[in-house]
Amino acid sequence: MASTVKKTKSVWFCSHCGNEYSKWLGRCPACGEWNTLVEKEVVTGKAAGPMTVPGGSRKPMPLKEVSTTQEDRVSLGSAEVDRLLGGGIVKGSLVLMGGEPGIGKSTLSLQLPLHRPELKTLYVTGEESVKQVKMRADRLGGDSSNCLIFSETDMSAILAEAEEVAPDLMIVDSVQTMYCQHVESTAGSVSQIKEVAAQLLRFAKSTGIPVILIGHITKEGTIAGPKILEHIVDVVLQFEGENRGAYRVLRSIKNRFGSTSELAVFEMTGTGLREVANPSEMLIPMHEAGLSGTAIAAMLDGNRPFLFEVQALVSSAVYGTAQRSATGFDVRRLNMLLAVLERRAGFKLGQKDVFLNMAGGLRITDPACDLAVIVAVLSSNFDMPIPADVCFAGEVGLSGEIRPVSQAARRAVEAARVGFKRIFVSSYTHFDQKPQGIEVVKVADIPALVRALFK
Ligand code: TYD
Ligand code: MG
Repeated sequence: MASTVKKTKSVWFCSHCGNEYSKWLGRCPACGEWNTLVEKEVVTGKAAGPMTVPGGSRKPMPLKEVSTTQEDRVSLGSAEVDRLLGGGIVKGSLVLMGGEPGIGKSTLSLQLPLHRPELKTLYVTGEESVKQVKMRADRLGGDSSNCLIFSETDMSAILAEAEEVAPDLMIVDSVQTMYCQHVESTAGSVSQIKEVAAQLLRFAKSTGIPVILIGHITKEGTIAGPKILEHIVDVVLQFEGENRGAYRVLRSIKNRFGSTSELAVFEMTGTGLREVANPSEMLIPMHEAGLSGTAIAAMLDGNRPFLFEVQALVSSAVYGTAQRSATGFDVRRLNMLLAVLERRAGFKLGQKDVFLNMAGGLRITDPACDLAVIVAVLSSNFDMPIPADVCFAGEVGLSGEIRPVSQAARRAVEAARVGFKRIFVSSYTHFDQKPQGIEVVKVADIPALVRALFK
């Protein structure tokens, strides 16, 4: 029998990675961060209750008897979101949609049901009033006849209503505003967030209703928020991008039912998020040819090759110490690349301010972008523009060597398709088949690159 006696005990959560410990530690053994453990009271003695997966068994069974028919999936009406999820949302799954405030989580999650009115949707809002949601819905257009709005933050009321309504899709905005009465801490605390997610997971699994749970996350990801949920939920979709930029990337960083190397690009417009099915064409600069400080990288983010612009500005430092700033790019990586330029190719950038920007507000992690970063920096430094039909794909190593990147052929093919005439890659790049319609320029190191571009 489940005990009904409530007891509380203290546990320590790492506010960085969400791991739980029974005692305080100075450093989290899981993620290695210092001073991140925070004490929380949690209620014990309350059994979580059985959790059955639809079609699952509560007794061990021979593996060969487990049926492996395709999971039942529901299309959300957005080709890009469906693709990210692996072909629609799986029935009974819990999907966490994380991202910084203002990036478009509420917009996208409301837009989905409005553009797919065949789905009976229950949209639970703990952040905005019903009126505000209605005003947003009016901007987004679509058909709201099958979308129910429920302004509530108490989980027991929400789950009771959800069982009554039995929607095809439930959206909960956001995990930080919901609370469970039996957990004695405020909404948004680690224990509340965990319990809210656990209850939604149980609800999804037992009813087969897919649930999208929205969670705020800060730039560093350090708040006790979605980070601690990543191992509870089935799928994590993360919104990235600069709030000021028009583009947002939705990336799947965990997917129990599909690949995690997918990403989708959206553009924020006056009437909601527009899918950018072909990122290359959107991300290529509108700048006039002949501007220095820009270079085009042939990227592969997720599974899709696309081209986009890297912008750099190098100028003499006004203050004593040179400033280094990067938008959409790791500033430590920028510092490393600048050090390589200085040590291995003799460029004195120590007294220069260097500003780097990834066009469209995208956040780039593909190391193949290094080469375009270096070229953009040098182009700005020499005030020498790069021809508009040239692009770059290469990683730069600590000794100034240019290293090959994954799937160079696919990058070259995409570059050719969009109209580029030359692509710079590492000398060590191997192509099974020579890419058609584009000249491949192989460079071994930075001095060779400089000779080829800035003679
Ligand atoms: P929102 O979806 O509320 O972000 P989140 O839920 O992640 O906090 O809002 C995203 C931003 O987009 C907000 O600043 C307003 C803006 N926006 C538009 O530009 N166009 C639109 O059609 C809508 C609905 C919002
Ligand atoms: Mg919101």
